[in-house]
Amino acid sequence: MSSVRSVLFVCLGNICRSPLAEGIFKDRILRSASPLTVFADSAGLDDYHLGEPPDVRTLLTARRHGIQLNHRARVITPEDFEKFDYILAMDRSNLQNLEKLLRRYSPKKPPKIYLVREFDPEPGDKEVPDPYYGTLEDFEMVYQMLDRSITNFITFLRAQSVSATT
Ligand code: 4NP
Repeated sequence: MSSVRSVLFVCLGNICRSPLAEGIFKDRILRSASPLTVFADSAGLDDYHLGEPPDVRTLLTARRHGIQLNHRARVITPEDFEKFDYILAMDRSNLQNLEKLLRRYSPKKPPKIYLVREFDPEPGDKEVPDPYYGTLEDFEMVYQMLDRSITNFITFLRAQSVSATT
């Protein structure tokens, strides 16, 4: 098995939670001394904000943590189910919709689909709540949940790579 992995973060609109998750993930991978090679992207389940940059509160929150986001909202495609090894959903509604799409597209090598907070050491209800109608503090809370979850997810990926090469 190759140590190259691919990860797609998914939420509803692809302007708040999943672009932030993608940015945190890429930042952590870039900063780590690990030889892990991972392609990461994000996508939404709906097209409300197609082609738009992340929400200004997402951009502010990311910047406050030293992360620059370069993403335009897009909708998940059938090809994503062929291309990605892992799809990480923000909430159970996302997860249910992804499982429906997985059944519809029946890819040759199905991605593993998780709630991102299954990797959170403080998982709570395992959902990253939608901050769209919330405040800047809600975006910071989302950042903290994603930060913890992604740190652990990278540890999980490393363990998978080690077991694939030994
Ligand atoms: P996201 O947040 O799924 O985290 O990007 C949302 C963004 C926009 C809407 C809902 C959720 N909306 O209804 O427009």
